[in-house]
Amino acid sequence: MKRTVSIRDIMDKKGKERIVMITSYDATTARIVDAADVDIILIGDSAGMVMAGGDSTLGVTMDHMVYHTQCVTRTRPGALVISDMPFMSYQASVPDAVRNAGRFLQEAGAQGVKIEGGKRVIEQVKAIIRADIPVMGHLGLTPQSVHAFGGYKVQARGEQAALLLKENALALQDAGIFALVLECVPAPVAKEVTEALDIPTIGIGAGPHCDGQVLVIQDMLGMDKTFKPKFVKQYAHLYDIIRDAVQAYAAEVRDGTFPAREHCFKD
Ligand code: KIV
Repeated sequence: MKRTVSIRDIMDKKGKERIVMITSYDATTARIVDAADVDIILIGDSAGMVMAGGDSTLGVTMDHMVYHTQCVTRTRPGALVISDMPFMSYQASVPDAVRNAGRFLQEAGAQGVKIEGGKRVIEQVKAIIRADIPVMGHLGLTPQSVHAFGGYKVQARGEQAALLLKENALALQDAGIFALVLECVPAPVAKEVTEALDIPTIGIGAGPHCDGQVLVIQDMLGMDKTFKPKFVKQYAHLYDIIRDAVQAYAAEVRDGTFPAREHCFKD
């Protein structure tokens, strides 16, 4: 029987089993990561960078995210599917936030949404949860705030900032989120927040003490030679593999080796 991962399954893993989350934005990749038995597929708004070529996530729209989510859910993955709420889909008002979150479940078949921010978006988080839409939080380096932060920098450095992060995490937990992404925060801070919460934390650049980890799939597959932040481990070097394969194809087309007899229809 095909496995299916629920929100409850993810919450129950806290303290027992580490949670594996990875991004996907298309059907082919979703099929592969699901076959690898990941727990959560995140349709991240990182799509705006790795798929669309932007230098931030700010240009991503609801329609882009619904489209990418549909591409993933059409494959009927067993993993839990969570979609990122893009910039300006929830910041301006609570009704906007609820309606946009609802689109991911109604039009695209996601099982929940992820929202960046703490207390400043708490009313939106509560309202979305009241509409029975599960919410994953996201604190630390929240990429939609890149300009407010003045760049992609490690967050929650220093006692005051670490305390603020913990307060925001607790407020989100009280609001009812089922899990929390901690991005680019010092490992001891992530440890303290993880220990303070009953819900699982999922780290990216947040050290080994989180309850789970997430990476952008293009980063961990080594598909971009120009992007290798400290927190990424490359489990493959697909840039080289793909370039070499395409070079071999190009050479064979040019010298007439491809297509060979076996690639031709006889009649
Ligand atoms: O957009 C994204 O892919 C994310 C993860 C890196 C957590 O938010």
